[in-house]
Amino acid sequence: MAISTTNLYAFAHINGEFSPAGKLNLTEQDQQTVASTFAYGQRYIERPNAIEIDPIGLALQPKESVKGKLLTPPNGLSFFGGIRDAAPDAWGRRLIEARLRVPANSLPESTYLLEAGSNRVGALDVRTSLDAPAQHTQEPPPSLQYLLEAAERVEAGLPIPDRLSDIFIAGTGLGGMRPKVSVRDNEHLLWLAKFPSLSDNLIDIPLIEHATLRLAALAGLNVPETQVIEVLDKNVMLIRRFDRSWTMTNKPMELRHHMVSALTLLACEELDSPNKSYMDIVSAMRRYCGTNFLKVDIAELYGRMVFNILVSNDDDHLRNHAFLWDTTSGGWKLSPLYDVMPRATLASERFLHLGVGLNGRFADLDNAYSAKERFGLLGPNACEIIDRVWRVVRQWKLHFESFGVSAEQIARISPAFRHIDDVSSPELRKQL
Ligand SMILES: Nc1ncnc2c1ncn2[C@@H]1O[C@H](COP(=O)(O)OP(=O)(O)OP(=O)(O)O)[C@@H](O)[C@H]1O
Ligand SMILES: [Mg+2]
Repeated sequence: MAISTTNLYAFAHINGEFSPAGKLNLTEQDQQTVASTFAYGQRYIERPNAIEIDPIGLALQPKESVKGKLLTPPNGLSFFGGIRDAAPDAWGRRLIEARLRVPANSLPESTYLLEAGSNRVGALDVRTSLDAPAQHTQEPPPSLQYLLEAAERVEAGLPIPDRLSDIFIAGTGLGGMRPKVSVRDNEHLLWLAKFPSLSDNLIDIPLIEHATLRLAALAGLNVPETQVIEVLDKNVMLIRRFDRSWTMTNKPMELRHHMVSALTLLACEELDSPNKSYMDIVSAMRRYCGTNFLKVDIAELYGRMVFNILVSNDDDHLRNHAFLWDTTSGGWKLSPLYDVMPRATLASERFLHLGVGLNGRFADLDNAYSAKERFGLLGPNACEIIDRVWRVVRQWKLHFESFGVSAEQIARISPAFRHIDDVSSPELRKQL
């Protein structure tokens, strides 16, 4: 078993450009990261607008706690979540492997971190030296036809011919399992394009995801703009990247927003995700998120949990919740909603991925109601949220029709949607 150590440099995108943030040392045993350390640069710490790379392991307050210190990950973890979130997970890794022509999961973390390129999600970049240039910075090319064709080949394990190699620029830095790329529209705004997958099994996932996110927006949740376009006779969902925005002060400039997953906020490993709950996320938010947004964000998370129960979105794992660094207030806030997909199951007892309330992961509104105190909600507040979300979800068929979902697709996804009578007690319903 070969053990190696690698020195890397983390860069943070501040005011439109990358600045060195600190030095990362990774100890790797074959493909496994066994230990890591990080030291913030002195100049970086003194910057008034320095981004906190990891809210737990690399907290920037108080400054004395990090100045000149070699920091190690919290909870005995081998890696800092805030940096791991800047590496691609499944899909981005498949693309890196396809480009380098190596088998799945055969590369060490340092390679995935470096190969993700500078267009990755969030505001970090990782390079081999302080003067190494940013990698793969070309604009993602607009030809979605080629990108879709390439993505299908990657999924099928086929080699990528040169004419399709743009996929390696457009898709490499991205997370999640499903095939996806980043694309810019004519106004230079960046979108995530989520493709159909070869394993979708007759459900038009891009269209249903779009319709579900629009439904969530109607229920008052904070959802990015989405749209569906047809490429090669298939639907592709576009969702606006919330980790990018444009500022028009002085000259137009694209800002990047640093983002960490709830996995990082809870300082745990992916394997621990099913043992965690929404209440754990709330406790971590109280500790690490800025007070400006806290009350609204916790109520929003409660609404998301209720929505997930009503649409059977049981893929609500810790990487499907994220937090953005707010430069203005110098604190963390809940990101807009993403990756919500109803699961058409016939099971009468259903469970979310994360714990809901006193009755564990059981997907039921009484269980959600039992968690209200942990969310700092009084009974009437919790009821107001449940009622608001239910009033919209109960009309889902009408809304899906208006979003262009066919009767055939509505019938296929229908078992996912739950009636309030099946997920709540008469006592709770009386209070709504
Ligand atoms: N609108 C967005 N703006 C910025 N980043 C996003 C956005 N949507 C998703 N992401 C990031 O991209 C990752 C992958 O996206 P998403 O979760 O939608 O993909 P997926 O393949 O369906 O995931 P999963 O494997 O959980 O099913 C997310 O974990 C998140 O980090
Ligand atoms: Mg996801």
